Amino acid sequence: PFEVVAERSGITVIVPPGVSVLDALADQGIHIATSCGEGVCGTCETKVLAGEVDHRDSLLTEEERTANTVMMVCRSRARGARLVLDV
Ligand code: FES
Repeated sequence: PFEVVAERSGITVIVPPGVSVLDALADQGIHIATSCGEGVCGTCETKVLAGEVDHRDSLLTEEERTANTVMMVCRSRARGARLVLDV
């Protein structure tokens, strides 16, 4: 599990294994637009303010992954214990 801080909403959620960041946030009433749910369309792209992303989408370039400024919340997860998102 890891922690996701929704900075603008002022809410912190715990994301257990097998649950997407997208769904964990939706459970707390933070709804991010989604479409494919598989990391291929880019609809759920969300700005990352802090924390390292474990990118599992098939959309971002190597440079974008390394830049660590956005993530696809339908698929991607945290590499560490905590992510801070601009939502
Ligand atoms: Fe398509 Fe996340 S909903 S990339």
